[in-house]
Amino acid sequence: MSISDCKIIDLPKIANPQGNLTFIEGENHIPFEIQRVYYLYDVPGGGERGGHAHKELQQLIIAMSGSFDIVLDDGKDKIRYHLNRSYNGLYVCPMIWRELDNFSSGSVCMVLASNRYDEIDYYRDYAEFMRARWGAE
Ligand code: TYD
Repeated sequence: MSISDCKIIDLPKIANPQGNLTFIEGENHIPFEIQRVYYLYDVPGGGERGGHAHKELQQLIIAMSGSFDIVLDDGKDKIRYHLNRSYNGLYVCPMIWRELDNFSSGSVCMVLASNRYDEIDYYRDYAEFMRARWGAE
């Protein structure tokens, strides 16, 4: 599992002058079964979130409104994504350190997740994450 396993997923978009519509039909569009949905909002402009990795959790992260950046880090490589379209989701596989920053004010970040919340699934310490990924080199 590396950052090359993470990717932008183009979701269906029904364009209409009266407003666009996007839908997600579970495993038709994303590579896991959705067990949880949560969202970040009222993040101060320029704010930062994240700073952790998950042992098993898979996620699809969508900028429902506004924009923000996500930096993915597998301990060897890093990549920065700018999310600003509600028909694009960033798929994040397990064992990837992520930081979210550069939030525009009023933005909403929705996350579809493959499991319920479980603190045991988190690495919140970067050094511990690196040891788990690459051993005590
Ligand atoms: P956390 O995942 O650390 O958020 P972020 O990475 O965006 O800063 O979660 C923040 C707090 O919310 C933490 O105390 C755990 C709690 N939480 C839940 O209770 N349920 C959830 O589904 C999530 C995502 C977080």
